[in-house]
Amino acid sequence: MRITYFSNSQKFLYDFQHIIRAFYPSAEVKFGHGGDIHFEAYFEEMKVVLKIQTQHKTVQKEFVLVSDEHESKRIFGRNLYDLLKDETKRELPWGILTGIRPTKIVYPLLEQGLNDEQIYNFLQKEYYISDKKSKLLLKVAKNEMDILNKLESSSACLYIGIPICPTKCLYCSFSCHEITRQVKSLIGMYTDSLICELEKAYQKIEENKNRIVAIYFGGGSPAVLGIENIKKIFTNLFENLERKHIQEITFEAGRPDTIDEKLLQYLSEINQDLNVRLCINPQTSNDNTLKIIGRNHSFEDIKRAFAQAYKYGFKNINSDVILGLPGEDENDYKRTIDDVLKLSPASITVHTLSIKRASLLRFKWNEYKFMDEETVNNLLDWTQYILEEHGYIPYYMYRQKNMIGNFENVGYCKRGFEGLYNMMIMQEKHNIYACGAKAVSKFVYEGDRIERVFNPADIKLYISRMLSVDV
Ligand SMILES: C[S@@+](CC[C@H](N)C(=O)[O-])C[C@H]1O[C@@H](n2cnc3c(N)ncnc32)[C@H](O)[C@@H]1O
Ligand code: SF4
Repeated sequence: MRITYFSNSQKFLYDFQHIIRAFYPSAEVKFGHGGDIHFEAYFEEMKVVLKIQTQHKTVQKEFVLVSDEHESKRIFGRNLYDLLKDETKRELPWGILTGIRPTKIVYPLLEQGLNDEQIYNFLQKEYYISDKKSKLLLKVAKNEMDILNKLESSSACLYIGIPICPTKCLYCSFSCHEITRQVKSLIGMYTDSLICELEKAYQKIEENKNRIVAIYFGGGSPAVLGIENIKKIFTNLFENLERKHIQEITFEAGRPDTIDEKLLQYLSEINQDLNVRLCINPQTSNDNTLKIIGRNHSFEDIKRAFAQAYKYGFKNINSDVILGLPGEDENDYKRTIDDVLKLSPASITVHTLSIKRASLLRFKWNEYKFMDEETVNNLLDWTQYILEEHGYIPYYMYRQKNMIGNFENVGYCKRGFEGLYNMMIMQEKHNIYACGAKAVSKFVYEGDRIERVFNPADIKLYISRMLSVDV
């Protein structure tokens, strides 16, 4: 099915498209005319006429905006939603909410001292968010605030990005380089580039009087740098940052095929007096799916990596899983959660599959069967129930574009194992110094203005910028 939408204004265009897409996830949705279903918005000062045209009928709605831009956006969203709901006879659990950081709408309500009932009412009335999602959202926001309120305003994060992986996962959209011979030959220079950029970051951190409280080694698979380069980076970090302020160091050892004893031994030494949060990510416990998604490991490898990590004394281990992977059904997913629970990680981050434009899956998705939205929604509820039963709390949440059913990703953890970096990036109140190819730094100014600084995605370009050499 082809769906078109047209507007005589740029106003709320993102929401216009996003809400339509959420109601018709498998349709082609384009700006223009001539679709099987066509939407039109006409803005005339504060008045809006919204129209939906199908082969059989045209339905039109007129409404008036207000002076507050945010409120007007919600008025527009709700009117569009009502039209779509009548047409499709469907409702969306997240209503008209299009943002990727849903807890950000709850913080101010909590700060104003609204009680739970008033907050649910606001979320349901203003955003059409379902009862279940409102409750989950409030729970997460309260857990986040408990931790974040204890931070000084000078607290900041440091991200170190290594966008290199052994193979590329089918669903991956990160600008991640596969480790070819050429990429391998650049690893030494990449490490030097990182250190060069870190040196500049330390100066800025000092100028801004920031204190780094959370460090995140991500990417990619940082372990591909090899132990000597990893040691070089840590040595540089500890020479320049005050150890006593660092509350968390996350190391994404997501792919067990990149973890070895030397790495665990070295990180365990750091873990003696600092909190190293290790990510070992199964995604699924189904070996057949692991093959389909192009990960070079089995679930046995995950179990082995966990056993090794426990042997080296790691307590703070996170496991990422994905709900809705190609070919998987309800039983596969439930088995994954059961299998992961047996490993007893300190945190489990549950993602809903998102079919991203830049991923290989985008071109191959019609080769696989996927769970329907209702099953995904039921499984999300089941996940919350089962994980809470096992003593995990939902502590952070984000949404992505193109997720099956337009749902959410939720981080669950045992109390005391909240991923600080994860919460800080969601709250957007603290500076994030990001180094590495494709890294994005974020600087927060008074009045909540945010400035983003983007690094080049290509590692060769990144190296040549940092080291002023031709690569
Ligand atoms: C920052 S990513 C990468 C972490 C690490 N490189 C890995 O894949 O093991 C964190 C998590 O997001 C999830 N993820 C990545 N791409 C996704 C997609 N297209 N849809 C849903 N979840 C995704 C995976 O669970 C992944 O572990
Ligand atoms: S391991 Fe993570 S970063 Fe690497 S290809 Fe897979 S999803 Fe992408």
